[in-house]
Amino acid sequence: MNSDTSRLFIRACFRQPVRRTPVWMMRQAGRYLPDYRAVREKYDFITMYKTPELVTLVTLQPVERLGVDAAILFSDILVIPEAMGMDLQFLEHRGPVLARPIREDGHIDALKDVEPEVDLAFVLESIRQVRRELNDRVPLIGFSGAPWTLATYMVEGGSSRHFGQIKRWRFAHPVGLHRLLEKITRAVVAYCRAQIAAGAQAIQLFDSWAGILDATGFNEFALNYVHRIIQQIRTPGVPIIYFARGAGTWLSRLSRCGADVIGLDWQVDLGLARRVLGEKAALQGNLDPTALYAPPPVIRKQVREMLRQYGPGSGHIANLGHGILPDVPVEHARAFIEAVQTESPVWHTQQTATRPEEP
Ligand code: CP3
Repeated sequence: MNSDTSRLFIRACFRQPVRRTPVWMMRQAGRYLPDYRAVREKYDFITMYKTPELVTLVTLQPVERLGVDAAILFSDILVIPEAMGMDLQFLEHRGPVLARPIREDGHIDALKDVEPEVDLAFVLESIRQVRRELNDRVPLIGFSGAPWTLATYMVEGGSSRHFGQIKRWRFAHPVGLHRLLEKITRAVVAYCRAQIAAGAQAIQLFDSWAGILDATGFNEFALNYVHRIIQQIRTPGVPIIYFARGAGTWLSRLSRCGADVIGLDWQVDLGLARRVLGEKAALQGNLDPTALYAPPPVIRKQVREMLRQYGPGSGHIANLGHGILPDVPVEHARAFIEAVQTESPVWHTQQTATRPEEP
């Protein structure tokens, strides 16, 4: 891969001209890959993300297997609650479980202030190892959960259907919730800064549960904190991506957080998002992850449609609208990556005459 390819992702994040659209997939280091499953058979998930050699191995798998244009560190957003002192387990068929969830003010006081160099040293060492191993073939994306989404896990104690507990806090005890979000925000800022210092070349903030909030609540409990984090971690040349799942109804507000790139879930109309946000941010996304169940020719057609919706010029990073599903055949993932890489150059040529026609 030449140096031009290695810069595609970063250039598109800053809306600089590129010769084609870069592409990667959320959850690309994961169970749909036979290579990942082979490692996972020998180690549990927590052991994997705490062992820099294993993190390096699986972070590079999609780069080598699929030729994605960016690597994302193999880790989890829940390392922050864990570093704050909560006991974390991942149970088969149930997902993450945080013991003794945060239900009263006193529980907030008991949470530790995070020192990334001490409490999350395994992440920072992993970043250094992955960078050495990647040798600038593609950039490395670091990440963190956004405060609201981390708070939902910490208050609910894991995944939830109705989010009754955190919503109770939101309406019945907003002062307490703000205190919790403040404390998480401090941890996220320190954590992102440490990742950048260790070599992360972009940062994505995952707000997977933004969409359960009401319109006012989204500003007050999600966007405000993300805005502050972005101001405090901003580093020249390091793009920041904000992925707020379910926030498509609040498109015009999303750019207020100051991110360089807005991640879109699959329900958002990419063309509309560009009209609303295109002058302010690059856009990442947003093919429906279940589209990868279809055979490769259908995937290619869907990719063509996604590229057409975005239209000509830079500022698009192709991705799925949420994480790749564990039972997607690896050849279909490969077809998605290849379709973006081969279909997109036409949208980046100077002559408008060569652009595909609208159907
Ligand atoms: O994108 C990547 O490939 C990087 C690694 C990554 C993982 N989780 C690995 C993982 C990233 C960026 C995450 C983020 C994450 N983790 C989010 C935000 C993104 C999203 O999906 O909305 C959330 C909400 C979590 C919390 C989490 N971790 C859940 C709910 C689960 C269980 C559900 C599931 O998919 O199993 C996890 C486990 C997890 N995180 C796995 C992986 C590869 C599966 C672990 C296994 O092998 O069993």
